[in-house]
Amino acid sequence: MITLAKNPFYSKYMNMENSIDIKSALEFYLLAGVDETVGESSMSLNTPPEKVVLPISIKAPTSTSASNPIRQATTELAQATVSACQNAHQLCAQAQNLNELRQAVENFDGCALKLTATHTVFGDGNPEAKIVLIGEAPGADEDRVGVPFVGRSGQLLDKMLSYISLDRSKYYITNILPWRPPGNRTPTGGEIAVCLPFLKRQLELINPDYILLLGGSSANALFDNQDPISKLRGHWLEYPLPSGKTAQALATFHPAYLLRNSGQKSKAWADLLKLHKEGVG
Ligand code: URA
Repeated sequence: MITLAKNPFYSKYMNMENSIDIKSALEFYLLAGVDETVGESSMSLNTPPEKVVLPISIKAPTSTSASNPIRQATTELAQATVSACQNAHQLCAQAQNLNELRQAVENFDGCALKLTATHTVFGDGNPEAKIVLIGEAPGADEDRVGVPFVGRSGQLLDKMLSYISLDRSKYYITNILPWRPPGNRTPTGGEIAVCLPFLKRQLELINPDYILLLGGSSANALFDNQDPISKLRGHWLEYPLPSGKTAQALATFHPAYLLRNSGQKSKAWADLLKLHKEGVG
């Protein structure tokens, strides 16, 4: 039995002894959005949480906010996002190689997702690769290990790529976001905007010939559009790099989508074959 503090919010799950059984506790945690454990020891719900310092500073409301506090908070959040983006751009300009960039991302405090993530998940693979693969954000497995695409999606991706003779010694793989959004929720536009400079700098430093966009989110973020993946996939896009080279980018379905919709795998195969025809793999 697990004992929880007296709190009307939990009362539905408690019996007369102020305790709950494990099934009810798990139901409660699932309803609350918890989908994994991150520590060995339990935490008392009576203990006040440690002071959390937000990575972005949001100023105290000013007198105008008294009449419209929501507008004021929205404006301040937008200002904080802009200043975090500027900071990210400065850090990127200073990073002269991938190791320096990894360090800069690990030290960056402008994205609140870092507060809930276990690890910063930077890119992995060959830094001199001809092709860079881009996903959306780390999932639970990647967050635990600190490496992109090591969970079920990554395993399917590895298997598919092996048929065109591609492995991590030949490609570099990364995500738009280096931190897992809690519960794998869709990242906000602000989170994407703040992290995008780090992705773009990775592309600049690697200077690839090809880019494979895994899913609509990475295609939309990199090409700043809203087109659905069903429309984008299978078509070549051009991504100009500061070196003067134009990388050829191809969007395909995200492997997590293929795990849920195996009928679409043939289209993803067709996309990989397009790459293979170009001499990739
Ligand atoms: N899905 C992603 O988009 N990226 C990962 O690293 C893992 C799963």
